[in-house]
Amino acid sequence: MDTGAQWSDVDDYLAGELVAEDEALVAARELGRERGLPPIEVAPNQGAFLALIARMAGARRVLELGTLAGYSTIWLARAVGDQGHVTTVELDPRHAEVAQENLSRAGVGDRVQIEVGPALDVLTGLADAGTEPFDLVFIDADKANMAAYLELALRLTHAGSVVVGDNVVRRGAVVDPSSDDPSVQGARAFLRGLGSDPRLEATALQTVGSKGWDGFAVARVR
Ligand code: SAH
Ligand code: DHB
Ligand code: MG
Repeated sequence: MDTGAQWSDVDDYLAGELVAEDEALVAARELGRERGLPPIEVAPNQGAFLALIARMAGARRVLELGTLAGYSTIWLARAVGDQGHVTTVELDPRHAEVAQENLSRAGVGDRVQIEVGPALDVLTGLADAGTEPFDLVFIDADKANMAAYLELALRLTHAGSVVVGDNVVRRGAVVDPSSDDPSVQGARAFLRGLGSDPRLEATALQTVGSKGWDGFAVARVR
């Protein structure tokens, strides 16, 4: 039978073959642990996956929702190159402070802007201010609001932009329409939006690995 231990072993193996995590990425994760942040950043092979999507999309401007300690932010900031920019939104100022340290150590502090506040407010402000559109949006904050984040992301992107949503499978719980878990309902509303909005083409993939059973959704703005 397949087990979570095997999924983790395979993640370690794949990362060992394919993913060069440097000291700054390792340190970013470790500082998060030291400061008591939850260990919920993307896995190394998932960080590399996000970076590859950004590179394949030729993304220069990235918007991230949910910074935590800046682990995924470092991957994305490296992917956009030294002429690129990442705006990352984080509710918790303590997380933002740890992330700032991690981004500076990784040498990408100058190309990342951390916006501290509720993502709904920050995105509304960015959209109302007529912010230059983003080429890629990574949605990884509170899952209850994912559908609202998608709507706002559509005000902040252009034809060809990519939207990625994390944690849309939730150990399979996403199939339960009567779930009382707001994160499940949020993921369901997000997926419904991705599938029904004529402005988008989208799919989603289940994942297993060191973070258990979950999944990513990926969309392209038409
Ligand atoms: N993207 C990170 C992980 C993010 S974890 C990585 O892979 O490295 C989710 C983060 O979203 C947490 O830091 C949490 O504080 C933040 N968050 C929760 N609710 C939020 C909200 N309403 N607005 C912005 N950020 C929020
Ligand atoms: C949680 C959040 C995440 O973004 C994630 O990838 C895994 C877990 C959480 O809030 O538990
Ligand atoms: Mg996540």
